Amino acid sequence: MKVNIITKRDFLDLAYKNTESFYEKINLPEVFVVKNFYNKDKILELRKKAHDLGTSSAPSWHPCLDGCPDYHRIHDNYPKAYVKALMHAYYKHGYYNENNELFDFFSEIFDLKNFLAGYPSGTFIKNIPSQYQIARVNIHNYPKGGGYQSEHIDPVSKFATIQTIVQASEYGKDFKTGGVYARKEKDSGKFYLDSYTEVGDLMVLSPGIYHGVEEIDVDHTLNWNSNDGRWMIMPIIINSDYDFPENIKPKNV
Ligand SMILES: [Fe+2]
Repeated sequence: MKVNIITKRDFLDLAYKNTESFYEKINLPEVFVVKNFYNKDKILELRKKAHDLGTSSAPSWHPCLDGCPDYHRIHDNYPKAYVKALMHAYYKHGYYNENNELFDFFSEIFDLKNFLAGYPSGTFIKNIPSQYQIARVNIHNYPKGGGYQSEHIDPVSKFATIQTIVQASEYGKDFKTGGVYARKEKDSGKFYLDSYTEVGDLMVLSPGIYHGVEEIDVDHTLNWNSNDGRWMIMPIIINSDYDFPENIKPKNV
């Protein structure tokens, strides 16, 4: 799988001004690693904030219905999960004003997703779940000692034609083996992406291809409280848990 290492300016130029050839590459599928999309220290600060929250408050789960609070959850091979995983996940919602700064910080990604969907900037950001689509910032921590997300395909929809993953770990230091991979076909070779990235880089790829997170540092003892392993931040627009016809969930493959 070809990885295009690209500057932020060139990437945004391509996506906004040459959208057709951008999609051609995404659909081949090729991957983009956009260098220094975000400031490294700022990303590490967000990671630390999440980690502090995770170690100082109880995990919980809430369906994505009106009133859904920000929360964090430990996914420990939960049998009913759409995609099986071992990870600590943190969810922040755009409809809470206390998150305005966070959503402003990630606005370039939300703006791009809206542009690609043909909507004006700011669409979805303040939506509540009963409006069917909401904006979320997901922070995932796959701990050393086997953190993973099983292989899956995400639904491709108007507002999710690309997946945008902000690297928040240092490959080789925070973890050494495993990590995010993608592949073209179910039985073609896995293509590992983390080694191309540094903290603050943005990975961009199609959601509709086989991808997952391979077990992180399996020879380590699992420790949910340690601030290492693989961290990533994903600003996303998702369907809420209300029932409506086009509400399609990711599926394990
Ligand atoms: Fe995914």
